[in-house]
Amino acid sequence: MAIIALVSAKGSPGVTTSALACALTWHRRLVLAECDPAGGSILAGYLGGALDGPRGIGELAVGELRDGNLDEAFWSQLVDLDAPRRERLLLPGVVDPAQAGSVTPLWQRFADFFAGLERGQPPYDVLVDCGRLQVVGPPWPILRAAAVVLLVTRAQLPDLSGTRAMVRTIERDFTEHRVPPGTVRLLLVGGGHGNGEISKALRLPVIARLPEDPRTAEVLSLGGTVRAGRPLMRAAGALEVPVRALLERRRARLAWPAAAQGVPDAV
Ligand SMILES: Nc1ncnc2c1ncn2[C@@H]1O[C@H](COP(=O)(O)OP(=O)(O)O)[C@@H](O)[C@H]1O
Ligand SMILES: [Mg+2]
Repeated sequence: MAIIALVSAKGSPGVTTSALACALTWHRRLVLAECDPAGGSILAGYLGGALDGPRGIGELAVGELRDGNLDEAFWSQLVDLDAPRRERLLLPGVVDPAQAGSVTPLWQRFADFFAGLERGQPPYDVLVDCGRLQVVGPPWPILRAAAVVLLVTRAQLPDLSGTRAMVRTIERDFTEHRVPPGTVRLLLVGGGHGNGEISKALRLPVIARLPEDPRTAEVLSLGGTVRAGRPLMRAAGALEVPVRALLERRRARLAWPAAAQGVPDAV
């Protein structure tokens, strides 16, 4: 596939939990990259901190700034979520906020590098946890490079008003940077207003809704055994289908731009 970015407007709707649930259930080789400038949490949470030393995007950034060695260092900074297969790999996020200062100037470099992974041997998709956009130094270059952007939101009114403002911000940014339209979709978490209602109010299609599943969410946040049959895991696994369909449509449209003329679409 390509880069698939998950991001939220504000609050904590479940970006990391949703991204991890997808990473553990999708069928293609993938790297889950924690690019939330506010910090990564999967290593300390789901993986229980079980590592011998520092690893992740912070280390990569320091090495890249010092030696320009991202291409060689990348694979050694990953954690195998499904050892020993190396089919689901985690690039842990920054742990020390001070590290974020090294990472944020490199978002474009990381975006270019991630985009290249789908052409690697073997190819990897990259699922990126971009955190929330209302922080210092959000990874805009990664969002612009993504083939699909999933804007994660709860479906209650206060969350939706923040998300609505963010849709317009993304729209403006993408227009300014000439990002081809049709990449952004809403990913709802939990109950609340209906999909059609939300899609109409925010003028953006809903790609799916992940169910409220506190037991699974707790395991994904704090560690333990994830059961494939749980509602959250089943819904996360099923999300691969519409995401792939959107990617295919986008590919076709980019290959034949004339076919897209006159077709209105959201961002
Ligand atoms: N589908 C879900 N069902 C129940 N609880 C969830 C779900 N997704 C996330 N949560 C819970 O919501 C909180 C925030 O989730 P997290 O993924 O850390 O959010 P974010 O990355 O957006 O800050 C956590 O306590 C998590 O367990
Ligand atoms: Mg998070």
